[in-house]
Amino acid sequence: MVSNQNAIKKIGVYTSGGDAPGMNPAIRAVVRSAISQGVRVMGILHGYSGMIDNEMKPLQMRDMANIIQRGGTILKTGRSNDFMKAEFRAKAAQNLRTQEIDGLICIGGDGSFRGAQALYEEHKIPVVGIAGTIDNDVYGTDDTIGFDTAINTAMEAIDKIRDTADSHDRIFIVEVMGRNSGFIASHVGLSGGAEEILTPENIIPVDKIVENLRSSRARGKTSSIIVTAEGQKPGRAYDLADAIRKKSGLDAKVCILGHLQRGGSPSAHDRILASRLGNAAVEALLGGKTNTMIGVQSDRLIEASFEVVTIKEKPGDKSLINLARLLSV
Ligand code: F6P
Repeated sequence: MVSNQNAIKKIGVYTSGGDAPGMNPAIRAVVRSAISQGVRVMGILHGYSGMIDNEMKPLQMRDMANIIQRGGTILKTGRSNDFMKAEFRAKAAQNLRTQEIDGLICIGGDGSFRGAQALYEEHKIPVVGIAGTIDNDVYGTDDTIGFDTAINTAMEAIDKIRDTADSHDRIFIVEVMGRNSGFIASHVGLSGGAEEILTPENIIPVDKIVENLRSSRARGKTSSIIVTAEGQKPGRAYDLADAIRKKSGLDAKVCILGHLQRGGSPSAHDRILASRLGNAAVEALLGGKTNTMIGVQSDRLIEASFEVVTIKEKPGDKSLINLARLLSV
């Protein structure tokens, strides 16, 4: 969508939702791309909460020094229930006007884009989005900032678990993040050599898991790794371990990786992605675009409307799960 706003002289940038490694290089790219075109930048702290509470500060070129390698987000982030209400969005819009902010760059997931969309529809403040979430569950883009770092962190953890699993001839259930999606689980499962991968789209009955474990033991396998996405309720790996024990007597150890996956220095892949998306988002916003996410498809930068991105669900890739099974004999 193209906005009817006058020339943009000052933009705001914010991070929203769960933090993701690579958000800092994205902020750096936004700030430096904008200032190099003579546009001033305000950093909005704590996502939508900071927009409501007027927590904003000017960002200069030098403020971006030495952040490319840092995990987390220097702008802080949050999940704001208040922003779901029109009265708080009106307050945020008033703050943005007072700060003379003509347009916004939102770094976050589809929930954050829904907030941005409402802000544009109600108050005509143009917003361009950059997909930043470790879950990689944003429709319209192959990749999101933070996903690569998170799956490498989880894979390294599984490599370590393999050592002890092998030494004790044990079964391990490793729970990875991903509330509504199984992208982390499928990628970590395949790259970590798991023999079962459970995701919200790939639910395997306990009987089947037990049957597979027994058959792999019969084939001479002494240790096994099962990767499960956390789903709606973190800790489900314990329920699965209990169910396996009750059905088969087999003892399965549990390791929940949790928020560990959200931290750490961004990988080269995430830094490059963040730099490209940050720069393209500024170009799009200054070019009059709004309600649009910048994403990547087959390594090419693309624009996708918030209207589509916030409604459609990105389909999971079952082929990785099937391949992991085939190769973990
Ligand atoms: O940002 C995505 C994510 O890490 C999900 O994988 C996870 O389910 C959720 O955030 C956890 O959120 P919080 O840190 O708010 O508990």
